[in-house]
Amino acid sequence: MKIARFSRIGFILAAAGSAVGLGNIWKFPYIAGEFGGGAFVLVYLITVLLIGFSIMIAEMLIGYMGRKDTVTSFEELAPKHKHIWKFAGFQGLAGLFVMIFYSVVIGWIFNYIVTSIISLPATVEEAEKTFTTMLRTDIMTQLFYHTVSFTWITYVLTKGIKGGIEKINMILMPSLMIILIGMFIYALSLDAFSQALNFMFAADWSKIDSNAFVTAVGHAFFTLSLGMGAIMTYSASMEKNSNLVKNAFWVVFLDTSIAIVAGLMLFTFLYQYGAGPAKGPGLVFISLPAAFYEMGILGNIFAVLFFLALAFAGLTSSVSLVEPMVQYFIDRFKWSRLKASMSMGLFFYLIGIIALLSNVDGFKEALTFGSKNFFDWVDYITAAIMLPMGGLLMALFIGFAVEKQRVESILKPQLGATFEIWYFSLRYITPVAMFIVMLSLVGVL
Ligand code: PHE
Ligand code: NA
Repeated sequence: MKIARFSRIGFILAAAGSAVGLGNIWKFPYIAGEFGGGAFVLVYLITVLLIGFSIMIAEMLIGYMGRKDTVTSFEELAPKHKHIWKFAGFQGLAGLFVMIFYSVVIGWIFNYIVTSIISLPATVEEAEKTFTTMLRTDIMTQLFYHTVSFTWITYVLTKGIKGGIEKINMILMPSLMIILIGMFIYALSLDAFSQALNFMFAADWSKIDSNAFVTAVGHAFFTLSLGMGAIMTYSASMEKNSNLVKNAFWVVFLDTSIAIVAGLMLFTFLYQYGAGPAKGPGLVFISLPAAFYEMGILGNIFAVLFFLALAFAGLTSSVSLVEPMVQYFIDRFKWSRLKASMSMGLFFYLIGIIALLSNVDGFKEALTFGSKNFFDWVDYITAAIMLPMGGLLMALFIGFAVEKQRVESILKPQLGATFEIWYFSLRYITPVAMFIVMLSLVGVL
C-alpha cells in the first residue's frame, strides 16, 4: 500500500490549519480583553516564542521519527520503558474531548453565518438576548448545526490525509487569510485602529497577576495545538527530509499573526462601532454582531464573512483533533478509515449533545457539577490538565528518554548553534513552566 504523505505546503497549511482555530479568533480576543490587553499579550507572545516554539519542534520530531499513530510512535522511540511511555500517546484522546465542546461552538458559528445574512441585532442588549436564547432554550437549532458540523468533519476524515485533510486545508486556509486580511485593511482605515493598537500593545503590568500569567501560558499551548498529538499525527505524514524547524516556524508564525490581526481588527470594530473591548466568551457572538449592525449593509457582509472565516478556522482544527484517534485505530486495530472516522465522530457527537444540553435551561441543573456545567468542565479539564500534561510529557520524552544522538542527528543540521539552547529549554525550562501552570490551573498554587 502506498503511504499518503503531505506535500511541503500541504503540511504547513494543515498544521497551521490545526493551530489557527477558535482559539485565535474566539478565545484570544476575549481573554486578552479580560486581562486588560497589553501586558497579557506580551506575556503570551514571549511564551509562544520561548516555550511554544520549542515544544512544537519536539512534537513534530516525535511524529516525524515515529511515523505512526501517537501511541506506537512513543512506544517505538523509547529505548527503555516502552510500555510506560506508550501511555503518553493516549494524549490523542484529549483531542476527542476538546471536540465535545468545539463542535457545539462551530454549530453556533454556522447559525450566525445564516442569521447574519438577514438580520443583525441593533443593540448589545438585543445581541445578548439572541445569544442567550439560542444557548439556553434553542435545542433544535444547536442540535441541527452540531449535526452539520459532525457530518462534515467525519466526512473529511474518511477521505484521508491527502484527499481529505490536505485538500480542505489547501482551500480553507487561504480563504480564511484572504477574508481576515481584507477586513483588517478596512479596519486600518478607521480612526479607532490606534485605540485597538494601544489596547493590545500598551503594557499595563499592574493587570498581570499569576492568574493572567497562567492563562497566557495555557492559551499559548491551546492555540498552537500542542500537547494533544494533533501536530504529532500530522508530522507522521510529513515528507522525508523535511525541515522541521522551518515548518514549526511557519506554523507558529501564521498562528500568532492571525491571532494578532484578528484581535486588532475586532477591537477596532468594537471601539469604532461598539462598546469597546468586551469581556467574556460572548465577545464575538454578542458585542461584535451589534458593532456590525452599526455599519449598515456592509456590516451584514462583514458579519457573514467573519463567521465564515471563523467556521473555516474551527473546521480545519477539528479534523486535526479527531485524526490522532482515527490514526490510532487504523494502525493498532487495523480498522478501516471509514469505520475509525465514523466511530470517533460518533463519540464526540453524542457526548457533544450532553455538553450542548448542559447549557440549556431544564437540563442545566442535572448537568452541573460543582462550580461548572458539563460544557465548561470539558473545556477546563482539557485546557488546564490534559494539554499542559501532554506538553510536559513530550518535553520530557525528547529531553530525557530518546537518545540525544538521535535527536541531534535530525535537528543539529537544522538548528545549528541554537540546538543546545533548544535542548536545554526542552529539558529544564519547559517542564518547570508546564508543571507550575498545571499546579496553578488545578488550584494547588
Ligand atoms: N489550536 C486550536 C485553536 O486555536 C485548538 C486545538 C488544540 C486544535 C489542540 C488541535 C489540538 O483553536
Ligand atoms: Na490557535
